[in-house]
Amino acid sequence: MKYVLGIDLGTSGTKTVLFDQTGKAMASNTVEYPMYQPRNGWAEQDPADWYHAAVETIRNVLSGSGVDPKDVVSLGISGQMHGLVMLDGKGEVIRRSIIWCDQRTAAECDEIHATVGKARLIEITANPALTGFTLSKLLWVRNHEPENYARCEHILLPKDYVRYMLTGDFATEVSDASGMQMLDVPGRCWSEELLKTLNIDPGLLAKVYESPEVTGHISAEAAKLTGLTESTLVVGGAGDNAAAAVGTGVVEDGRAFTTIGTSGVVFAHTDQLAIDPQGRVHTFCCAVPGAWHVMGVTQAAGLSLKWFRDTFCEAERDAAAQIGCDPYDLMNQEAARSPIGSNKLLYAPYLMGERTPHLDADCRGMFVGLSAMHKRRDLLRAVMEGVTFSLRDCLGVLDEMGVKPAQMLACGGGGRSPLWRQMLADVFDLPVATTVNTEGPALGVAILAGVGAGLYSSVPEACRAMIHVNEPQLPIAANVAPYAKVYAVYQQLYRANREVFKALAALE
Ligand code: XUL
Repeated sequence: MKYVLGIDLGTSGTKTVLFDQTGKAMASNTVEYPMYQPRNGWAEQDPADWYHAAVETIRNVLSGSGVDPKDVVSLGISGQMHGLVMLDGKGEVIRRSIIWCDQRTAAECDEIHATVGKARLIEITANPALTGFTLSKLLWVRNHEPENYARCEHILLPKDYVRYMLTGDFATEVSDASGMQMLDVPGRCWSEELLKTLNIDPGLLAKVYESPEVTGHISAEAAKLTGLTESTLVVGGAGDNAAAAVGTGVVEDGRAFTTIGTSGVVFAHTDQLAIDPQGRVHTFCCAVPGAWHVMGVTQAAGLSLKWFRDTFCEAERDAAAQIGCDPYDLMNQEAARSPIGSNKLLYAPYLMGERTPHLDADCRGMFVGLSAMHKRRDLLRAVMEGVTFSLRDCLGVLDEMGVKPAQMLACGGGGRSPLWRQMLADVFDLPVATTVNTEGPALGVAILAGVGAGLYSSVPEACRAMIHVNEPQLPIAANVAPYAKVYAVYQQLYRANREVFKALAALE
């Protein structure tokens, strides 16, 4: 039997899973790390934390599984997208990584539109300039920290930094590179035109591969640290959403999934390039060579609930520690005691600004409709409903583009909650299913690793063999109309408060 490793470098932690070649998970391990928020709207992480977490989790799954490391033929890495890692000539990290949810770069987005032209930028990169994407972060460093920019010799994405540390290779792949906003997304290569117009040295960028292609193998030093052997191949891997698509079998036209991780995503595969002219959803290369995907993003999906847990749910955390369960299970039970509409309480999940559909770095979260009758459980349910409504906004944009999935797969931490899945089914008015194996992005990149090592002939063939879907949860007819009424009110929140957000952002 041969084995493949999937490493999922998330925002709250890195999870590594060892699979056998039939897709059975043999061992899994997660190590968490912090996110630093030095200012309102800023978000940074330390690349060393990612690498140490990768090494520790690989070591733990190998020792926990008893598998002979020589039989681990290949590995893939899935990563939080867009983060900017800058290295000097010696390969040392220059500054903390400015990550995907950081919102400091509105001025740089204006600069990109003014220099390149918005229409031309969308033709090349398939997206308007966004604060989340790597390009605006790079220009921010050039504008605000010229000494760091001058020392920089390599720019890498989070997962590609871990690849570099494991293999010594400067490499990336098309799905994650799409989110750097320097890739010619239709052509699947770096855009010489864009780099020249913005005066960025192409030598800073890594070689681009397709996601299942082999980019190198484990170095002698990394082999010593992780317990792997140098013969383990490393494939391109994928951005976390493209990896989740492979891990849920969303690799053919007509398939879609919703993920509730730190961010939330509604993602649909497309064999033909499709671009929203208003840029409300992203078009990226997907992990299937020659295909793309469109996806809407809720910036703070699971992050909203995590914020609520950490700020208000000490009781659940203590009780969960005592009885040995997950605090989120207790929070779910509490939220289920509040009715649809949370007793007329709304929550907008704009803790880190919002992408789909508002593209506004300055908006912030809100509870609207608070009354003295509200209990904590109403706030909790309102958070879950607000995130679901925001994902419904994403689905609405896909619908306008003619992308109309007949069923939704649910993944990510939030997808594990039956209550949240039922909300998705009722609010989307679609059947919502889960996959039998819930490892999502880790399984996705393990499948890519299997294809790269020749265990399967193509990504869709591997998915057909390895991914099984459970019976879907159907929308409950009596819930659909009440949720639709609350959603109609929710849709007014952003516009009604846009000027307030601007005024707040302008405060010193
Ligand atoms: C996608 C995005 C997030 C991150 C973090 O554009 O920013 O989904 O990849 O998970």
